[in-house]
Amino acid sequence: METKHWTSHDELNNQAIHEAAERLKQGETIAFPTETVYGLGADATNDHAVSQIFQAKGRPADNPLIAHVGSSDLIYDYVTDVSEDAEALINAFWPGPLTLILPAKSKLAENVTAGLTTVGFRMPDHPVALALLQAANIPVAAPSANRSGKPSPTAAGHVLHDLDGKIYGVLDGGMTGVGVESTVIDMTLDPPMILRPGGVTQTEIEAVIGPVNLAPSLQAEDDAPRSPGMKYKHYAPDCPIWIVNGGAERMKQVAHDLQQDGKRVGFMVSDERAIDLDQDHVYRLGSQKDLLAITRHLYDRLRQIDNSDYEIILAEAFPKDGIGEALMNRLEKAASETIE
Ligand code: TXA
Ligand code: MG
Repeated sequence: METKHWTSHDELNNQAIHEAAERLKQGETIAFPTETVYGLGADATNDHAVSQIFQAKGRPADNPLIAHVGSSDLIYDYVTDVSEDAEALINAFWPGPLTLILPAKSKLAENVTAGLTTVGFRMPDHPVALALLQAANIPVAAPSANRSGKPSPTAAGHVLHDLDGKIYGVLDGGMTGVGVESTVIDMTLDPPMILRPGGVTQTEIEAVIGPVNLAPSLQAEDDAPRSPGMKYKHYAPDCPIWIVNGGAERMKQVAHDLQQDGKRVGFMVSDERAIDLDQDHVYRLGSQKDLLAITRHLYDRLRQIDNSDYEIILAEAFPKDGIGEALMNRLEKAASETIE
């Protein structure tokens, strides 16, 4: 199959959106930009359509998908209950990077929920995603549009790199904004539990509905042994990444020791740290003063590192405040070690 590439030139062109929405309804897979990362969409009520997502991504069948809607009203057809807290979160954060796990009706394709009795819903905050979802007017199952085991795509080029020839088309909306996946919160538990940190922070959620829990896997300290039971394979780069706590001097020292051993060492750091390091082999993430920008660039830099021939990448640690919580969650998952 030749993958259709609707370029940013006609991204908001009705014709492109209309055609993509029609193809979705006919059971094809379409990749589209959201404010977090690109998603690979298929009709969430069509088992066969959804199976093509799993096939294109090489995704394990027991990992459930998020259903996306262009209007919050649509979810009431597919869930048995929307609690007061869930309503409050919808009102506060949709459209936006927050996925709510709710009790599912059996009207969705079984492979969306992977046999669970719950389903994740979200309404993305991106003009192209919203136009597509509203034109299709169906729930659209959409995991991140990468091959399983690769970083989530933050540009259409990333999608094509991984999935060209395997999907019907991609709507190119340029770079995504948040750069890491949505916050996932299980609203079927009391109190609700954050399963994945993302663009909406715990503090922001608690300001609306009061205290929530963090999944136990998110509470593990830095130096706790990496749980092999983190059930689903997450992105692990070919080149090991070490997070180095401390300043530029410490990082230089670690690099020096590795270079003495003949290793080709690269760095993934802020602009400020890059200046202090004064080295050639640097992937810059953005200014320390702008954690949002650093988060937005993370997956692109990880993809660049995958194409490099460094033997070790030393990465800067960032404060876990606000979006830093999601940023460091993804960075720690990609890293094999944290050095004090
Ligand atoms: O920002 C995002 O959420 C992106 C964009 C495309 O919307 N999507 C995304 O999808 O990251 P995916 O499939 O890569 O991640 C979905 C996460 C997985 O960790 C999955 O296990 C969890 O949500 N999930 C989905 N349904 C669930 C459910 N019923 N119960 C618990 N976890 C669920
Ligand atoms: Mg994913």
